[in-house]
Amino acid sequence: MENESRGQWGSRVGFVLSAIGSAVGLGNIWRFPYMTYKNDGGAFLIPYLIAVLTVGIPLIILEVSLGHKTGGSAPTAFSKIDKRFSWLGWWQPLNSLIILVYYSVIIGWALNYIVFSFTQAWGTDTNAFFFGTFLGVTDSPFNLGGIKWPIFIAMTIIWFVDWYIVYNGVQNGIEKYNKIMMPALFIMMIILMIRGVTLPGAAVGLEQYLHPDFSKIFNGQVWIDAFGQAFFSLSVAMGVYCAYGSYLPQKSDIVNNAFITGFADTGFAFLSGLAVFSILGFMATESGAPFDQIVAQSMGLAFVAFPRGISMMPFLPWLFGMMFFGCLLFGGLTSSISMVEAFASGVIDKTHGDRRKIVTWTCLIGWLVSILFSTGAGLLILDIVDHFVNAYGVVLAGLGEAIAIGYFYGTNKIREHFNPISDYKIGTWWDIMVKYWAPFIMIIMSVINLVAELKAPYGGYPFSAILLLGWVLMAADLIASFILGSRDWEKNISTSRGGK
Ligand code: PFF
Repeated sequence: MENESRGQWGSRVGFVLSAIGSAVGLGNIWRFPYMTYKNDGGAFLIPYLIAVLTVGIPLIILEVSLGHKTGGSAPTAFSKIDKRFSWLGWWQPLNSLIILVYYSVIIGWALNYIVFSFTQAWGTDTNAFFFGTFLGVTDSPFNLGGIKWPIFIAMTIIWFVDWYIVYNGVQNGIEKYNKIMMPALFIMMIILMIRGVTLPGAAVGLEQYLHPDFSKIFNGQVWIDAFGQAFFSLSVAMGVYCAYGSYLPQKSDIVNNAFITGFADTGFAFLSGLAVFSILGFMATESGAPFDQIVAQSMGLAFVAFPRGISMMPFLPWLFGMMFFGCLLFGGLTSSISMVEAFASGVIDKTHGDRRKIVTWTCLIGWLVSILFSTGAGLLILDIVDHFVNAYGVVLAGLGEAIAIGYFYGTNKIREHFNPISDYKIGTWWDIMVKYWAPFIMIIMSVINLVAELKAPYGGYPFSAILLLGWVLMAADLIASFILGSRDWEKNISTSRGGK
């Protein structure tokens, strides 16, 4: 194991809350409820739970173990198990970094909406307000249309907070603030849920959210959506758990911690769905509009439909508005700090450099790129980048991980590491999931996404935009991973630390 100066969690609770903090985020609050609804309600929960249990949690166990066993974050961990996979160790945190540059802008929107909640500044036409007044969306990803200053300022604040927390290290930064933000987040969401289900008409929304259409279970797209959502929501294949696992003390109950993380994330997503859909049901009942007109597409659910619902609330609308966007803020922050850490810790481990300097540079560069997303083209660029990094970057990095461990390193070596230190031992089912099931699923996902891509460019964007912001970016991401992975970092370092 690594020496103390690299950082270590102060307590098991601190680690678990930080892991849940990474998992619970924007993905749970607006994406999960919308995905469940889009895939015809309650029946989606079955493929989703299967995704969490058969791929999500097994990969969390794998990544935490890898970090714990090698005492390093992803780049170090992968190069220690097999030099040929050094690039894979960089690819994962690089994907996180790409996600982070737009994710932090969305948290910035939430910060703005907390302020708007006081006066319900979004007015009656929340759609025109969000896309027009607030985002000033242009007609093409190449037409930047100038910086939107409230977004720029908010995203700068978010980057500053991320910087401050990660700069302070594992125990005095990440752990300390997760221990504050995560309980606050759970309390706010529970209050929102209680508020939601006690509103008149809540049952209408819950019926829409949970009513199972079992015929959909045989639809392949539902499964692709479920696995994609589980990947994003659980933060797997992003380098987060390797980094977080590397700060665990020698005797750590890895299996239990992974199950707690996976179940807490799923439970929180379900809870968000209850809160969001009961409020949408209330809106449908109040306005007499059909339910499908109330639900907005993905992003619009949180920033268009929800604000309208808040304005309709019988009392203290500002407070519930603040709480909802406060949930997005806290959930988003605890996830974004894990992305900063996934990348920065990779550089720290490889260069043995100063955490403060490396975190400062990471955040400075990330912030500069985020400016692009604060322009009128921000939403369009974000949409394309988000699609490509999740559909290809993350899924293929996950596939690489399963193959590297399953076929080159050996799942048994990882299982023999985590079982003796865990309270619950797990059997060979885990090996089967990592070796056969997870790669099978990830190959199917990639092929189906690719076929859809070839049929029509994603989102109806011009091909030049898809090429540059999708394919070229993904290729650059992969090439950068290979370059970083092939560099002989040890050559420049006089003192060598860490063990295998
Ligand atoms: N799991 C987070 C969410 O559901 O919002 C998103 C996320 C966190 C993605 C950490 C990537 C990551 F490295």
